[in-house]
Amino acid sequence: MPNKNLALLTYGCQMNEYDSEKIGGILQGEGYQLTDNLEEAQLILVNTCCIREKAEQKFYSQLGRLAGLKKKNPSLAIGVGGCIAQREGKRIFERAPQVDLVFGTQNISRLPELLRQLRQGKGKVADVAQVKGEFVSPHIRRESTVKAWVTIMQGCNNFCSFCVVPYTRGPERSVPGEMILDEIRGLARQGYKEVTLLGQNVNAYGKDLVDEGAFPGLLSRVDDLDGIERIRFTTSHPKDLSEELMGAMARLAKVCEHIHLPVQAGSDSVLDRMNRRYTAGEYRAKIARLRALLPSIGISTDVIVGFPGESQEDYARTRELIEEVEYDSLFLFKYSARPETVAATLSDQVPEEVKQERFEEILALQKGITLRKNQELEGKRVEVLVEGASKKDPAKLTGRTRTHKIVNFRGPEGLVGHLVELEVIQGKLYSLEGRLALKEPR
Ligand code: 5AD
Ligand code: SF4
Repeated sequence: MPNKNLALLTYGCQMNEYDSEKIGGILQGEGYQLTDNLEEAQLILVNTCCIREKAEQKFYSQLGRLAGLKKKNPSLAIGVGGCIAQREGKRIFERAPQVDLVFGTQNISRLPELLRQLRQGKGKVADVAQVKGEFVSPHIRRESTVKAWVTIMQGCNNFCSFCVVPYTRGPERSVPGEMILDEIRGLARQGYKEVTLLGQNVNAYGKDLVDEGAFPGLLSRVDDLDGIERIRFTTSHPKDLSEELMGAMARLAKVCEHIHLPVQAGSDSVLDRMNRRYTAGEYRAKIARLRALLPSIGISTDVIVGFPGESQEDYARTRELIEEVEYDSLFLFKYSARPETVAATLSDQVPEEVKQERFEEILALQKGITLRKNQELEGKRVEVLVEGASKKDPAKLTGRTRTHKIVNFRGPEGLVGHLVELEVIQGKLYSLEGRLALKEPR
Protein backbone atom coordinates (compact mmCIF):
# COMPACT_ATOMS: atom_id res chain seq x y z
CA MET A 1 0.00 0.00 0.00
CA PRO A 2 1.71 3.26 -1.05
CA ASN A 3 1.88 5.92 1.62
CA LYS A 4 -0.06 9.14 1.12
CA ASN A 5 2.61 11.59 2.18
CA LEU A 6 2.17 15.01 0.69
CA ALA A 7 4.80 17.74 0.54
CA LEU A 8 3.50 21.19 -0.26
CA LEU A 9 5.95 23.86 -1.44
CA THR A 10 4.63 27.38 -1.47
CA TYR A 11 6.05 30.46 -3.18
CA GLY A 12 4.73 33.99 -3.38
CA CYS A 13 2.12 36.10 -1.70
CA GLN A 14 -0.35 35.60 1.13
CA MET A 15 -2.97 34.57 -1.40
CA ASN A 16 -0.77 31.60 -2.31
CA GLU A 17 -0.07 30.76 1.31
CA TYR A 18 -3.76 30.77 1.97
CA ASP A 19 -4.41 28.60 -1.12
CA SER A 20 -1.83 26.15 0.22
CA GLU A 21 -3.68 25.99 3.53
CA LYS A 22 -6.78 25.09 1.50
CA ILE A 23 -4.89 22.47 -0.54
CA GLY A 24 -3.50 20.96 2.67
CA GLY A 25 -6.95 20.86 4.24
CA ILE A 26 -8.69 19.34 1.24
CA LEU A 27 -6.06 16.65 0.76
CA GLN A 28 -5.95 15.79 4.45
CA GLY A 29 -9.64 15.10 4.02
CA GLU A 30 -8.59 12.64 1.29
CA GLY A 31 -6.25 10.80 3.65
CA TYR A 32 -2.99 12.56 2.81
CA GLN A 33 -0.50 13.42 5.56
CA LEU A 34 1.63 16.48 5.24
CA THR A 35 5.37 16.09 5.45
CA ASP A 36 8.28 18.51 5.19
CA ASN A 37 10.57 15.73 4.03
CA LEU A 38 10.55 15.67 0.24
CA GLU A 39 12.36 12.30 0.22
CA GLU A 40 9.44 10.52 1.85
CA ALA A 41 6.66 12.20 -0.13
CA GLN A 42 4.58 10.32 -2.69
CA LEU A 43 3.03 13.52 -3.90
CA ILE A 44 4.76 16.90 -4.15
CA LEU A 45 2.66 19.92 -5.01
CA VAL A 46 4.34 23.21 -5.84
CA ASN A 47 2.23 26.34 -5.46
CA THR A 48 3.96 28.80 -7.76
CA CYS A 49 4.37 32.54 -8.15
CA CYS A 50 5.34 34.54 -11.23
CA ILE A 51 5.02 38.11 -10.03
CA ARG A 52 8.70 38.72 -10.78
CA GLU A 53 11.20 36.87 -12.91
CA LYS A 54 13.21 35.75 -9.88
CA ALA A 55 10.23 33.89 -8.43
CA GLU A 56 9.83 32.06 -11.70
CA GLN A 57 13.52 31.14 -11.90
CA LYS A 58 13.33 29.74 -8.38
CA PHE A 59 10.47 27.52 -9.43
CA TYR A 60 12.30 26.07 -12.42
CA SER A 61 15.41 25.34 -10.38
CA GLN A 62 13.24 23.67 -7.74
CA LEU A 63 11.71 21.54 -10.51
CA GLY A 64 15.22 20.43 -11.46
CA ARG A 65 15.74 19.14 -7.92
CA LEU A 66 12.38 17.38 -8.00
CA ALA A 67 13.35 15.59 -11.21
CA GLY A 68 16.26 14.09 -9.25
CA LEU A 69 13.89 12.83 -6.57
CA LYS A 70 11.66 11.27 -9.17
CA LYS A 71 14.60 9.34 -10.60
CA LYS A 72 15.11 7.79 -7.17
CA ASN A 73 11.41 7.20 -6.60
CA PRO A 74 9.55 6.67 -9.89
CA SER A 75 6.17 6.44 -8.16
CA LEU A 76 6.49 10.02 -6.94
CA ALA A 77 3.84 12.31 -8.46
CA ILE A 78 4.62 15.99 -9.00
CA GLY A 79 1.90 18.62 -9.35
CA VAL A 80 2.19 22.31 -10.12
CA GLY A 81 -0.42 24.86 -9.11
CA GLY A 82 -0.61 28.61 -8.59
CA CYS A 83 0.17 31.44 -10.96
CA ILE A 84 2.75 29.82 -13.26
CA ALA A 85 0.42 26.85 -13.69
CA GLN A 86 -2.45 29.19 -14.52
CA ARG A 87 -0.40 31.04 -17.12
CA GLU A 88 1.44 28.12 -18.70
CA GLY A 89 -1.15 25.34 -18.45
CA LYS A 90 -0.13 22.19 -20.33
CA ARG A 91 3.00 23.90 -21.67
CA ILE A 92 4.62 23.05 -18.34
CA PHE A 93 4.65 19.38 -19.39
CA GLU A 94 6.81 20.24 -22.41
CA ARG A 95 9.32 22.22 -20.43
CA ALA A 96 9.28 19.91 -17.41
CA PRO A 97 8.38 16.31 -18.30
CA GLN A 98 8.76 15.27 -14.65
CA VAL A 99 5.49 17.11 -13.87
CA ASP A 100 2.37 14.91 -13.80
CA LEU A 101 -0.33 17.36 -12.84
CA VAL A 102 -1.05 21.03 -13.51
CA PHE A 103 -3.87 22.86 -11.73
CA GLY A 104 -4.84 26.52 -11.91
CA THR A 105 -5.56 29.10 -9.24
CA GLN A 106 -9.28 28.45 -9.49
CA ASN A 107 -9.31 24.65 -9.55
CA ILE A 108 -8.15 23.82 -6.04
CA SER A 109 -11.41 22.22 -4.98
CA ARG A 110 -11.13 19.83 -7.97
CA LEU A 111 -7.79 18.46 -6.72
CA PRO A 112 -9.21 15.19 -5.29
CA GLU A 113 -10.83 14.45 -8.65
CA LEU A 114 -7.69 15.40 -10.60
CA LEU A 115 -5.57 13.15 -8.38
CA ARG A 116 -8.00 10.28 -8.94
CA GLN A 117 -7.64 10.74 -12.68
CA LEU A 118 -3.87 10.73 -12.27
CA ARG A 119 -3.95 7.50 -10.26
CA GLN A 120 -5.98 5.81 -12.99
CA GLY A 121 -2.73 6.00 -14.94
CA LYS A 122 -4.03 7.40 -18.18
CA GLY A 123 -1.33 10.00 -18.40
CA LYS A 124 -0.80 13.56 -17.33
CA VAL A 125 -3.66 15.68 -16.00
CA ALA A 126 -4.22 19.42 -16.36
CA ASP A 127 -7.03 21.75 -15.35
CA VAL A 128 -6.58 25.50 -15.49
CA ALA A 129 -10.14 26.43 -16.46
CA GLN A 130 -11.22 29.84 -15.13
CA VAL A 131 -14.16 29.05 -12.90
CA LYS A 132 -16.60 31.59 -11.54
CA GLY A 133 -17.18 31.33 -7.80
CA GLU A 134 -14.68 28.71 -6.74
CA PHE A 135 -15.14 29.71 -3.13
CA VAL A 136 -16.49 26.72 -1.32
CA SER A 137 -13.59 24.89 0.28
CA PRO A 138 -14.06 24.98 3.99
CA HIS A 139 -11.43 22.35 4.88
CA ILE A 140 -8.54 24.62 5.55
CA ARG A 141 -5.41 23.48 7.32
CA ARG A 142 -4.39 26.73 8.94
CA GLU A 143 -0.83 27.40 10.03
CA SER A 144 -1.77 29.43 13.11
CA THR A 145 -4.34 28.88 15.85
CA VAL A 146 -4.45 32.57 16.68
CA LYS A 147 -4.76 34.47 13.40
CA ALA A 148 -6.30 33.46 10.11
CA TRP A 149 -6.59 34.68 6.55
CA VAL A 150 -9.98 34.91 4.92
CA THR A 151 -10.26 35.48 1.18
CA ILE A 152 -12.93 38.05 0.45
CA MET A 153 -12.20 38.48 -3.22
CA GLN A 154 -10.15 36.96 -5.95
CA GLY A 155 -8.64 38.39 -9.09
CA CYS A 156 -7.94 41.96 -10.13
CA ASN A 157 -9.34 44.30 -12.81
CA ASN A 158 -6.72 47.01 -12.51
CA PHE A 159 -4.15 45.98 -15.09
CA CYS A 160 -1.26 47.97 -13.72
CA SER A 161 1.04 47.85 -16.72
CA PHE A 162 3.81 45.91 -14.90
CA CYS A 163 1.64 43.29 -13.26
CA VAL A 164 0.82 39.76 -14.27
CA VAL A 165 -1.87 39.16 -11.61
CA PRO A 166 -4.94 40.04 -13.74
CA TYR A 167 -3.74 37.37 -16.20
CA THR A 168 -3.07 34.66 -13.61
CA ARG A 169 -5.88 35.35 -11.14
CA GLY A 170 -8.57 36.49 -13.56
CA PRO A 171 -11.17 39.23 -13.06
CA GLU A 172 -12.41 40.43 -9.67
CA ARG A 173 -14.86 38.11 -7.95
CA SER A 174 -16.11 38.95 -4.47
CA VAL A 175 -17.14 36.27 -2.01
CA PRO A 176 -20.72 36.83 -0.81
CA GLY A 177 -20.73 38.59 2.57
CA GLU A 178 -22.69 35.87 4.37
CA MET A 179 -20.09 33.26 3.39
CA ILE A 180 -17.32 35.45 4.73
CA LEU A 181 -19.16 36.06 7.99
CA ASP A 182 -19.87 32.34 8.38
CA GLU A 183 -16.21 31.52 7.92
CA ILE A 184 -15.22 34.13 10.51
CA ARG A 185 -17.89 32.98 12.99
CA GLY A 186 -16.42 29.48 12.65
CA LEU A 187 -12.94 30.85 13.31
CA ALA A 188 -14.15 32.71 16.39
CA ARG A 189 -15.71 29.49 17.72
CA GLN A 190 -12.34 27.77 17.30
CA GLY A 191 -10.69 30.51 19.34
CA TYR A 192 -9.09 32.62 16.58
CA LYS A 193 -8.55 36.21 17.65
CA GLU A 194 -7.45 37.92 14.46
CA VAL A 195 -8.57 37.80 10.85
CA THR A 196 -6.94 39.32 7.80
CA LEU A 197 -9.34 39.88 4.93
CA LEU A 198 -7.49 39.09 1.73
CA GLY A 199 -7.86 40.27 -1.83
CA GLN A 200 -5.67 41.83 -4.53
CA ASN A 201 -7.67 45.03 -4.15
CA VAL A 202 -10.03 44.74 -1.19
CA ASN A 203 -11.35 48.26 -1.68
CA ALA A 204 -13.17 47.07 -4.79
CA TYR A 205 -14.99 44.46 -2.71
CA GLY A 206 -18.65 43.94 -3.61
CA LYS A 207 -18.60 45.90 -6.87
CA ASP A 208 -19.21 42.74 -8.90
CA LEU A 209 -22.12 41.52 -6.73
CA VAL A 210 -25.63 42.89 -7.08
CA ASP A 211 -26.83 42.75 -3.48
CA GLU A 212 -23.56 43.18 -1.68
CA GLY A 213 -22.61 46.46 0.01
CA ALA A 214 -19.13 47.92 -0.34
CA PHE A 215 -16.02 47.08 1.69
CA PRO A 216 -16.60 49.48 4.62
CA GLY A 217 -19.98 47.78 5.20
CA LEU A 218 -18.32 44.37 5.26
CA LEU A 219 -15.74 45.63 7.74
CA SER A 220 -18.44 46.85 10.04
CA ARG A 221 -20.30 43.51 9.86
CA VAL A 222 -17.08 41.68 10.77
CA ASP A 223 -16.45 44.16 13.57
CA ASP A 224 -19.80 43.19 15.09
CA LEU A 225 -18.85 39.50 15.44
CA ASP A 226 -18.08 38.28 18.95
CA GLY A 227 -14.79 36.57 19.69
CA ILE A 228 -12.64 38.19 17.01
CA GLU A 229 -10.52 40.94 18.55
CA ARG A 230 -8.58 42.25 15.60
CA ILE A 231 -9.33 42.80 11.93
CA ARG A 232 -6.77 43.51 9.23
CA PHE A 233 -7.11 43.68 5.47
CA THR A 234 -4.79 43.75 2.51
CA THR A 235 -4.15 44.95 -0.17
CA SER A 236 -5.58 48.44 -0.64
CA HIS A 237 -5.23 50.31 -3.91
CA PRO A 238 -4.68 54.04 -3.31
CA LYS A 239 -7.14 55.05 -6.03
CA ASP A 240 -9.94 53.13 -4.27
CA LEU A 241 -9.16 54.14 -0.70
CA SER A 242 -12.31 56.12 -0.02
CA GLU A 243 -13.14 58.64 2.67
CA GLU A 244 -15.81 56.19 3.79
CA LEU A 245 -13.25 53.42 4.27
CA MET A 246 -10.84 55.65 6.14
CA GLY A 247 -13.75 56.70 8.35
CA ALA A 248 -14.64 53.06 9.00
CA MET A 249 -11.03 52.30 9.97
CA ALA A 250 -11.15 55.11 12.49
CA ARG A 251 -14.59 54.21 13.84
CA LEU A 252 -14.43 50.42 14.10
CA ALA A 253 -12.68 49.35 17.27
CA LYS A 254 -11.34 46.01 16.03
CA VAL A 255 -9.90 47.28 12.77
CA CYS A 256 -6.19 47.67 13.41
CA GLU A 257 -4.27 50.90 12.85
CA HIS A 258 -2.26 49.64 9.92
CA ILE A 259 -2.51 49.93 6.18
CA HIS A 260 -0.47 48.48 3.37
CA LEU A 261 -0.80 51.09 0.64
CA PRO A 262 1.48 50.35 -2.31
CA VAL A 263 2.67 53.57 -3.92
CA GLN A 264 5.00 51.96 -6.51
CA ALA A 265 6.60 55.28 -7.55
CA GLY A 266 6.70 58.96 -6.66
CA SER A 267 6.75 60.42 -10.17
CA ASP A 268 3.46 61.25 -11.85
CA SER A 269 4.72 60.33 -15.28
CA VAL A 270 5.85 56.89 -14.05
CA LEU A 271 2.57 56.40 -12.17
CA ASP A 272 0.72 57.26 -15.34
CA ARG A 273 2.68 54.77 -17.42
CA MET A 274 2.16 52.18 -14.68
CA ASN A 275 -1.59 52.78 -15.14
CA ARG A 276 -1.99 53.34 -11.41
CA ARG A 277 -4.62 56.07 -11.88
CA TYR A 278 -3.55 58.37 -9.05
CA THR A 279 -0.96 61.12 -8.76
CA ALA A 280 1.70 61.39 -6.09
CA GLY A 281 -0.21 64.41 -4.77
CA GLU A 282 -3.44 62.43 -4.41
CA TYR A 283 -1.53 59.67 -2.67
CA ARG A 284 0.05 62.14 -0.22
CA ALA A 285 -3.37 63.61 0.55
CA LYS A 286 -4.70 60.17 1.48
CA ILE A 287 -1.75 59.53 3.77
CA ALA A 288 -2.34 62.89 5.45
CA ARG A 289 -6.03 62.08 5.90
CA LEU A 290 -5.25 58.65 7.38
CA ARG A 291 -2.82 60.21 9.85
CA ALA A 292 -5.32 62.89 10.80
CA LEU A 293 -7.91 60.21 11.56
CA LEU A 294 -5.51 57.68 13.11
CA PRO A 295 -2.36 59.40 14.40
CA SER A 296 -0.61 56.18 15.42
CA ILE A 297 -1.29 54.31 12.15
CA GLY A 298 1.47 52.05 10.81
CA ILE A 299 1.93 52.45 7.06
CA SER A 300 3.73 50.07 4.74
CA THR A 301 4.15 50.17 0.99
CA ASP A 302 5.55 48.56 -2.14
CA VAL A 303 7.97 50.41 -4.40
CA ILE A 304 9.33 49.43 -7.80
CA VAL A 305 12.59 50.92 -9.04
CA GLY A 306 13.69 50.81 -12.66
CA PHE A 307 10.28 50.85 -14.33
CA PRO A 308 10.79 51.39 -18.09
CA GLY A 309 11.68 55.00 -18.79
CA GLU A 310 12.30 55.88 -15.12
CA SER A 311 14.68 58.84 -15.36
CA GLN A 312 16.99 60.16 -12.66
CA GLU A 313 14.37 62.88 -12.06
CA ASP A 314 11.55 60.35 -11.73
CA TYR A 315 13.61 58.32 -9.33
CA ALA A 316 14.37 61.43 -7.23
CA ARG A 317 10.59 61.96 -6.85
CA THR A 318 10.25 58.43 -5.44
CA ARG A 319 13.06 59.04 -2.98
CA GLU A 320 11.48 62.32 -1.88
CA LEU A 321 8.13 60.68 -1.31
CA ILE A 322 9.70 57.97 0.83
CA GLU A 323 11.57 60.55 2.89
CA GLU A 324 8.41 62.55 3.36
CA VAL A 325 5.93 59.78 4.18
CA GLU A 326 8.34 57.92 6.50
CA TYR A 327 6.92 54.46 6.08
CA ASP A 328 7.09 51.95 8.89
CA SER A 329 8.17 49.35 6.37
CA LEU A 330 8.69 49.15 2.66
CA PHE A 331 8.86 46.24 0.24
CA LEU A 332 11.22 47.16 -2.55
CA PHE A 333 11.38 45.55 -5.97
CA LYS A 334 13.47 45.96 -9.06
CA TYR A 335 11.20 46.13 -12.09
CA SER A 336 11.07 42.83 -13.89
CA ALA A 337 9.40 42.44 -17.28
CA ARG A 338 6.53 39.95 -17.20
CA PRO A 339 5.08 38.17 -20.21
CA GLU A 340 1.80 39.58 -21.56
CA THR A 341 2.06 42.86 -19.62
CA VAL A 342 2.07 46.23 -21.37
CA ALA A 343 5.23 47.46 -19.62
CA ALA A 344 7.21 44.53 -21.03
CA THR A 345 6.67 45.97 -24.52
CA LEU A 346 8.04 49.42 -23.63
CA SER A 347 11.32 50.15 -25.35
CA ASP A 348 13.24 52.18 -22.77
CA GLN A 349 14.05 49.46 -20.25
CA VAL A 350 16.38 50.62 -17.46
CA PRO A 351 19.81 48.92 -17.34
CA GLU A 352 20.33 46.41 -14.54
CA GLU A 353 23.20 48.42 -12.93
CA VAL A 354 20.97 51.48 -12.64
CA LYS A 355 18.16 49.42 -11.12
CA GLN A 356 20.62 47.92 -8.66
CA GLU A 357 22.01 51.31 -7.67
CA ARG A 358 18.55 52.75 -7.05
CA PHE A 359 17.52 49.61 -5.20
CA GLU A 360 20.46 49.80 -2.79
CA GLU A 361 20.03 53.52 -2.20
CA ILE A 362 16.34 53.22 -1.29
CA LEU A 363 16.99 50.16 0.84
CA ALA A 364 19.55 52.12 2.88
CA LEU A 365 17.27 55.15 3.12
CA GLN A 366 14.34 53.08 4.36
CA LYS A 367 16.48 51.14 6.84
CA GLY A 368 17.33 54.41 8.55
CA ILE A 369 13.67 55.46 8.67
CA THR A 370 12.40 52.10 9.96
CA LEU A 371 15.04 51.90 12.66
CA ARG A 372 14.42 55.45 13.83
CA LYS A 373 10.67 54.91 13.98
CA ASN A 374 11.09 51.68 15.92
CA GLN A 375 13.49 53.34 18.36
CA GLU A 376 10.96 56.12 18.92
CA LEU A 377 8.70 53.48 20.45
CA GLU A 378 11.19 52.66 23.23
CA GLY A 379 9.57 53.19 26.61
CA LYS A 380 6.05 53.18 25.09
CA ARG A 381 3.31 50.66 25.84
CA VAL A 382 1.85 48.53 23.04
CA GLU A 383 -0.88 45.91 22.82
CA VAL A 384 0.33 42.64 21.32
CA LEU A 385 -1.58 39.54 20.25
CA VAL A 386 0.68 36.65 21.27
CA GLU A 387 1.16 34.23 18.36
CA GLY A 388 3.61 31.66 19.72
CA ALA A 389 7.31 31.07 20.26
CA SER A 390 9.66 33.31 18.32
CA LYS A 391 11.25 31.42 15.42
CA LYS A 392 14.61 33.09 15.90
CA ASP A 393 14.71 32.70 19.67
CA PRO A 394 12.32 29.99 20.87
CA ALA A 395 12.88 31.05 24.49
CA LYS A 396 10.85 34.15 23.68
CA LEU A 397 7.26 34.70 22.65
CA THR A 398 6.33 36.74 19.61
CA GLY A 399 3.35 38.73 18.42
CA ARG A 400 2.39 41.90 16.61
CA THR A 401 1.21 45.32 17.64
CA ARG A 402 -2.00 46.69 16.18
CA THR A 403 0.27 48.71 13.87
CA HIS A 404 1.76 45.41 12.58
CA LYS A 405 5.17 45.56 14.22
CA ILE A 406 6.70 42.33 15.51
CA VAL A 407 7.52 42.31 19.23
CA ASN A 408 9.55 39.57 20.96
CA PHE A 409 9.45 39.19 24.73
CA ARG A 410 9.86 36.71 27.57
CA GLY A 411 6.70 35.31 29.09
CA PRO A 412 4.80 32.11 29.90
CA GLU A 413 3.53 29.97 27.03
CA GLY A 414 0.00 30.27 28.40
CA LEU A 415 -0.12 33.78 26.94
CA VAL A 416 -0.36 32.43 23.38
CA GLY A 417 -3.67 33.55 21.89
CA HIS A 418 -4.06 36.43 24.37
CA LEU A 419 -3.72 40.16 24.05
CA VAL A 420 -1.03 41.48 26.37
CA GLU A 421 0.30 44.89 27.20
CA LEU A 422 4.06 45.25 26.67
CA GLU A 423 6.57 47.96 27.23
CA VAL A 424 8.95 48.39 24.31
CA ILE A 425 12.52 48.13 25.59
CA GLN A 426 14.37 48.20 22.30
CA GLY A 427 13.52 49.19 18.74
CA LYS A 428 15.43 47.17 16.14
CA LEU A 429 15.27 47.07 12.36
CA TYR A 430 12.89 44.18 11.86
CA SER A 431 11.33 43.87 15.30
CA LEU A 432 10.90 45.34 18.75
CA GLU A 433 12.00 43.86 22.06
CA GLY A 434 9.40 44.15 24.77
CA ARG A 435 8.68 43.22 28.36
CA LEU A 436 5.40 42.39 30.00
CA ALA A 437 3.80 45.40 31.60
CA LEU A 438 2.01 44.60 34.84
CA LYS A 439 -1.51 44.05 33.66
CA GLU A 440 -3.69 40.97 33.28
CA PRO A 441 -3.75 39.45 29.77
CA ARG A 442 -7.12 39.50 28.03
N1 5AD B 1 8.35 43.88 -11.33
C1 5AD B 1 8.68 44.28 -10.08
N2 5AD B 1 7.82 44.33 -9.06
C2 5AD B 1 6.54 43.95 -9.31
N3 5AD B 1 5.47 43.89 -8.51
C3 5AD B 1 4.43 43.43 -9.23
N4 5AD B 1 4.81 43.20 -10.49
C4 5AD B 1 6.12 43.51 -10.57
C5 5AD B 1 7.08 43.49 -11.61
N5 5AD B 1 6.76 43.12 -12.85
C6 5AD B 1 5.49 44.32 -7.10
C7 5AD B 1 4.56 45.51 -6.89
C8 5AD B 1 3.40 44.89 -6.15
C9 5AD B 1 4.08 43.78 -5.38
C10 5AD B 1 3.20 42.71 -4.88
O1 5AD B 1 5.02 43.27 -6.30
O2 5AD B 1 5.23 46.45 -6.08
O3 5AD B 1 2.72 45.80 -5.32
FE1 SF4 C 1 -1.34 43.87 -9.90
FE2 SF4 C 1 -2.17 46.41 -9.93
FE3 SF4 C 1 -3.94 44.42 -9.54
FE4 SF4 C 1 -2.15 45.01 -7.62
S1 SF4 C 1 -3.78 46.35 -8.40
S2 SF4 C 1 -2.69 42.95 -8.37
S3 SF4 C 1 -0.35 45.59 -8.83
S4 SF4 C 1 -2.76 44.79 -11.41
